[in-house]
Amino acid sequence: MKNPVVPSWTESTRNLFKPVIVLVITFAATVKLSQSLYRYNLRRRSRARSGTMSSSSSSDNGTGVQARRRSRILSSKLYFDIPNSKVPLIYSSAYDITFLGIEKLHPFDSSKWGRICGFLLVDNVVDKNCIVEPLEASKNDLLVVHSEAYLNCLKKSANVAMIIEVPPVAVFPNCLVQQKVLYPFRNQVGGTILAAKLAKERGWAINVGGGFHHCSGEKGGGFCAYADISLCIHFAFERLNISRVMIIDLDAHQGNGHETDFANDCRVYTLDMYNPGIYPFDYEARRYIDQKVEVVSGTTTNEYLRKLDEALEVSVHSFDPELIVYNAGTDILDGDPLGRLKISPDGITNRDEKVFRFARKRNIPIVMLTSGGYMKSSARVIADSITNLSNKCLIDTGKNMTAT
Ligand SMILES: *[C@@H]1O[C@H](CO)[C@@H](O)[C@H](O)[C@H]1NC(C)=O
Ligand SMILES: *[C@@H]1O[C@H](CO)[C@@H](O)[C@H](O)[C@H]1NC(C)=O
Ligand SMILES: *[C@@H]1O[C@H](CO)[C@@H](O)[C@H](O)[C@H]1NC(C)=O
Ligand SMILES: *[C@@H]1O[C@H](CO)[C@@H](O)[C@H](O)[C@H]1NC(C)=O
Ligand SMILES: [Zn+2]
Repeated sequence: MKNPVVPSWTESTRNLFKPVIVLVITFAATVKLSQSLYRYNLRRRSRARSGTMSSSSSSDNGTGVQARRRSRILSSKLYFDIPNSKVPLIYSSAYDITFLGIEKLHPFDSSKWGRICGFLLVDNVVDKNCIVEPLEASKNDLLVVHSEAYLNCLKKSANVAMIIEVPPVAVFPNCLVQQKVLYPFRNQVGGTILAAKLAKERGWAINVGGGFHHCSGEKGGGFCAYADISLCIHFAFERLNISRVMIIDLDAHQGNGHETDFANDCRVYTLDMYNPGIYPFDYEARRYIDQKVEVVSGTTTNEYLRKLDEALEVSVHSFDPELIVYNAGTDILDGDPLGRLKISPDGITNRDEKVFRFARKRNIPIVMLTSGGYMKSSARVIADSITNLSNKCLIDTGKNMTAT
């Protein structure tokens, strides 16, 4: 994940209206201030938690947290029955962010999710009416892993601005930020959660959004405001008779959110392949990665794919999952301003194929999330890769394409 707006900020501001420039400057200070306040609050809260796995206040005992979590999951509306006429490809037009022109900032593509689907429809990989539309995650759903305190912090636009790394967002009324930014994210969260149910039923599911792997129950960051991966897994534990989950996180960045949330939870095995020289430098969360594969800046396609083969081979012997959550960020692409790796578009296709082959061969349900990678070219690359999965019969999108 991670939002490429910041590195291109100076260049991009030139193209914006003068008032926006003024706003940015005026409120940069506000953002900085609230940032330090926010960090201070988090430190205080994490001290209060003192090493327990609880995501609520320190007065909770484990049983209470567990019981409340279970009743929230059982009363959720996010799991609903999907007719067989639909394909486990999940997307809603509510995913896309359009915010007063901010989404046009080069090279950030905040409607990549809609563009991926657009390509899949045009290329006749899937029918429009076969796509599954999820529901928005409610507060009750989010409380399965998030604390009230964390959700309340999103009621301040400055905090959201910091989390998504778009400073001007700090100046907008929170109702607008909720509607334009957090509402799309909550819909994507609903999609990730539903994807596990569909994967269990059909063998695979792709949420065309989600993969907010920097967010944990207590802390957002790096463009990630909700911990959709942690939520998805907790729902699977309660509702899908699943007790062992493997996260394969191949976004360029380290997945510190889910790593923090499942730190000492032996039901979750994490294979994380990331560039250690970029955000988030979360050394504590790194200790919770079961299988760490570091790929340094400049790594090219062949070396990357070789390391992936080796890693998958090792993981087979280490863990026997009942569900795979595949975080398929495309910020490993050559030219991505943040990932700093040099993987070609065909390399992405090969990578996704390897992971799907790995899961499908062993009959392990797999959920794919698109995660980070917001270059204009990312949507095309992702759509091409999904097309290839269909061509290679690793997924069935109902179009009966010829195998190659
Ligand atoms: C934990 O809380 C539950 C209800 O919230 C209570 O029934 C249980 O006895 C408590 N357990 C301990 C060890 O305090
Ligand atoms: C739950 O999973 C276990 C092992 O994976 C299986 O033996 C059992 O039949 C499952 N139960 C249900 C209700 O599906
Ligand atoms: C992926 O599929 C496209 C279109 O079907 C094809 O042109 C391309 O060669 C494929 N790439 C790989 C790496 O299989
Ligand atoms: C898919 O293709 C196969 C072989 O070409 C054909 O027998 C089958 O009827 C097709 N299925 C559908 C749903 O079109
Ligand atoms: Zn990333």
